[in-house]
Amino acid sequence: MKIEMKVNGKTVSGEIEGRTLLVDFLRKDLRLTGTHVGCDTSQCGACTVHMNGEQVKSCSVLAAEADGSEVTTIEAMQNADGSLNTVQQAFQDYHGLQCGYCTPGMVMAATALLKDNPKPTEAEIRHHLEGNICRCTGYHNIIKAIMAASGQDVQAVAAE
Ligand code: FES
Ligand code: FES
Repeated sequence: MKIEMKVNGKTVSGEIEGRTLLVDFLRKDLRLTGTHVGCDTSQCGACTVHMNGEQVKSCSVLAAEADGSEVTTIEAMQNADGSLNTVQQAFQDYHGLQCGYCTPGMVMAATALLKDNPKPTEAEIRHHLEGNICRCTGYHNIIKAIMAASGQDVQAVAAE
């Protein structure tokens, strides 16, 4: 079947099978490999993108379901001049990543959170990230990064 959608502001189309997942369309057809696949059980959140402004796990969405929608991936998150945006910079500044595998999904999830809740509490951040797994950081620095990105006092983040 033929699908068409807007990805990172550009209209794209493709010929897909009905069972094709959005994450595979993004990675294989569009070569947007910043969206990662970390599991086959819809648990890890490495594949998180925004669809019509809402965060979704792109391994849990059929590409056909995204037909006609607007999708944003990590590739479009930097500032217009190519520099890291506020959330990305905070991840770097507060060491919110180690191997980086979970990071695109974390950034997309954090961005969605801050859009709806610009000053989340630590508990709200932890709750929001329940669908995003990180095997490296222990989450502490990710929480700090998101607190910093929202202009809040990082010292207030509870010690591990
Ligand atoms: Fe989508 Fe793990 S790859 S949740
Ligand atoms: Fe390695 Fe999160 S930084 S999985």
